[in-house]
Amino acid sequence: MRRTIVITGGTSGIGKALARHHAERGDLVVAVGSGEAGGRRLREDVPSARFVRADLSSVRQTRALIERLRADHPVIDALVLGAFRYNPARIETEEGFEHTFALYVINRWLMAEGLRDALERAPAPVIVNLCGVGGIRAGEINWEDPQLNRGYRPFRATMQGARGGELLASTYSAERTRYVLYNPLFVATGLFEPFRQPVRGLVRVTSALFAQPVARAVPPIAALVDRPPAGPLTAYRRGRPIAFTADRDRALRFERAVRAMVAPFSG
Ligand SMILES: NC(=O)c1ccc[n+]([C@@H]2O[C@H](COP(=O)([O-])OP(=O)(O)OC[C@H]3O[C@@H](n4cnc5c(N)ncnc54)[C@H](OP(=O)(O)O)[C@@H]3O)[C@@H](O)[C@H]2O)c1
Repeated sequence: MRRTIVITGGTSGIGKALARHHAERGDLVVAVGSGEAGGRRLREDVPSARFVRADLSSVRQTRALIERLRADHPVIDALVLGAFRYNPARIETEEGFEHTFALYVINRWLMAEGLRDALERAPAPVIVNLCGVGGIRAGEINWEDPQLNRGYRPFRATMQGARGGELLASTYSAERTRYVLYNPLFVATGLFEPFRQPVRGLVRVTSALFAQPVARAVPPIAALVDRPPAGPLTAYRRGRPIAFTADRDRALRFERAVRAMVAPFSG
């Protein structure tokens, strides 16, 4: 049966390889990215995939994308959340959010919530959130200053985003849709690109030596898309299931905070 797979960040790295895998299997793949260059690369490499351009760090563009996806695809079998950018310096979006928080936390939460109905209509729906925590201790919510106006550090922003994603995943409620938090660990996808020299060279060498090739990272993720786990929320690190629990009170507190942040942009 032909399934519909929506992949944010489906124009590069793990997302694009996953797009190729599912398109070659005959699934309808909708890949979202912010740049036309990525769309062109996708059309060349995976001609049968559909490209949708949207800046997912924008709440308004995310909401418009959700409306479009709901109209075009009343049934969605899988939502893969992979859009990400590592920001060496703090960037603020037009809507006033720190960029990592907007893309890694707010966008993923809105997508999961906004596409719930379309997912619930599928026979075995799943959300796979490609993320960076999954059992690693780093990553704290800065409750006083979640937009990191003071003391921005890229690693801190990234790990806060990953932790926030975990908390929000644990508040996700659906009857049928399974939610998977998946940390692929170190994968060779051009991670060195955002850095300036000399760090860029160092990350490039480290990646060449230690990172897993994309082709090896994808099969276990594709397997979860094809055969979602039985439990409503599961976590994996490079294909291995890991124990996962989130503090319910903190999770609900964080969800309330994020809901309040996006409230001015509703409708
Ligand atoms: N690679 C690793 O070692 C690793 C480790 C742990 C977790 N992960 C997770 O795995 C996922 C994929 O990683 P990757 O390394 O394969 O990523 P990648 O190659 O850097 O690709 C990132 C994708 O996100 C899209 N994107 C970035 N900003 C966007 C925006 N504002 N709006 C829409 N799309 C946007 C990019 O397209 P445009 O540039 O066109 O916008 C691109 O398609 C990420 O969620 C990452 O956190 C990766």
